[in-house]
Amino acid sequence: MAIPARPPVPRPETAVARTLLLGWVFAQVAGATGTTDTVAAYNLTWKSTNFKTILEWQPKPINHVYTVQISTKSGDWKNKCFHITDTECDLTDEIVKDVNQTYLARVLSYPAGDVGSAGSAGEPLFVNSPEFTPYLDTNLGQPTIKSFEQVWTKLNVTVQDARTLVRINDTFLSLRDIFGKDLIYTLYYWRASSTGKKTAKTNTNAFSIDVDKEENYCFNVQAVIPSRKANQKSVESTIECTSREKVDFREMFFIIGAVVFVVIILVIILAVSLHKCRKARVGQGWKENSPLNVA
Ligand SMILES: *[C@@H]1O[C@H](CO)[C@@H](O)[C@H](O)[C@H]1NC(C)=O
Ligand SMILES: *[C@@H]1O[C@H](CO)[C@@H](O)[C@H](O)[C@H]1NC(C)=O
Ligand SMILES: *[C@@H]1O[C@H](CO)[C@@H](O)[C@H](O)[C@H]1NC(C)=O
Ligand SMILES: *[C@@H]1O[C@H](CO)[C@@H](O)[C@H](O)[C@H]1NC(C)=O
Repeated sequence: MAIPARPPVPRPETAVARTLLLGWVFAQVAGATGTTDTVAAYNLTWKSTNFKTILEWQPKPINHVYTVQISTKSGDWKNKCFHITDTECDLTDEIVKDVNQTYLARVLSYPAGDVGSAGSAGEPLFVNSPEFTPYLDTNLGQPTIKSFEQVWTKLNVTVQDARTLVRINDTFLSLRDIFGKDLIYTLYYWRASSTGKKTAKTNTNAFSIDVDKEENYCFNVQAVIPSRKANQKSVESTIECTSREKVDFREMFFIIGAVVFVVIILVIILAVSLHKCRKARVGQGWKENSPLNVA
C-alpha cells in the first residue's frame, strides 16, 4: 500500500490530531493487510547552546523510523541520523561549517521493517523545521567566572572564554573568536552587606572596577549580544564573593600556629633539661649509695 505524501504541515495542532487519527485508521488497515504505517513528526524544535545544536521532535515512533535531512537555503539535502527510532538528532557537525548560513532541516517518516524499499514506496511523509541561523539563534551558555581578585580599591574579574565546536584548521574557536566585539559581558556586583546592585560592561572578558577597600563584594556575570533581536542574554553565572575576613582569619591562624609551635618547642626544651637535671641528680644519688652496696 502506497502512503500518500502530504505537503509540509502549516498548523501543528490540527496536523497532530489529523496525523493521530490517520495513524489509527492506517493501523486498523495495516492490522488487516499486514503492512505498517507511518506518522509524521511534529513540534520540530532547535535546541542550541554555544553552537552545540540538536533538533528535537515528537512523537516517539511505534511502527516507523525517522531520517533527518539538513540543507542550507541554496544547497542539497543531506541525510543525517538515518532510520532512527530516537526523536532527536545532533546537527552540530553540519551547522558549524558556516555559522552565518541559514539552515533548514526536515524529518522524514518511514515504515519500520521496510527500510530497504522506503524510497520506492512513494515519497515519504516529511515535516520542515523552522529556519535556523547559528550566529543569531544559538543560545549563549551560562558563563563561568575564571578568576577574581580584590586588591586595595580594585576588583578584577575574569570570565572564562567558552570553547565551542566551531573549528578553523582543526582549532576550536572560543565564543570571543566567533562573536568578536558583538559579545559583551555584564557584571552585576553589590556589597556583601547590602543588596543594591551595580552593573559594569566589557567587550573583553576582563573587568576592573573601583570598590571600597573596607567592603566585601559579591558578583556574577552574564553574556549578552546587544545586536541580536532575540536570544540576547545568557543565564547569569553563579555568584562569587570576595572574602577579606577570611584572609585575616588565615593570618590569625598562622600567628596562632606560630605561637603554638614556639610553646611546644619551649615545653620540649624544658622537659629535656628537666630530665637531664633529674638524671644528673639520680646519678649523683646512685654514686653516693654505690659504695655502700658494693661493700
Ligand atoms: C514541543 O516541544 C517542546 C520542547 O521539546 C516542549 O516543551 C513542548 O511541550 C512541545 N509541545 C507540544 C505541543 O508537544
Ligand atoms: C558572521 O556575521 C557577523 C555579523 O554579520 C560577522 O561579524 C562575522 O564575522 C561573520 N562570521 C563568519 C564566520 O563569517
Ligand atoms: C586589575 O586589572 C587592571 C587592568 O587590567 C590591572 O592594571 C591590574 O594590575 C589588575 N590588578 C590585579 C590585582 O590583578
Ligand atoms: C587555515 O589553513 C590554511 C592553509 O594551511 C591557511 O591558508 C589559512 O590562512 C588558515 N586559516 C586560518 C584562519 O588560520
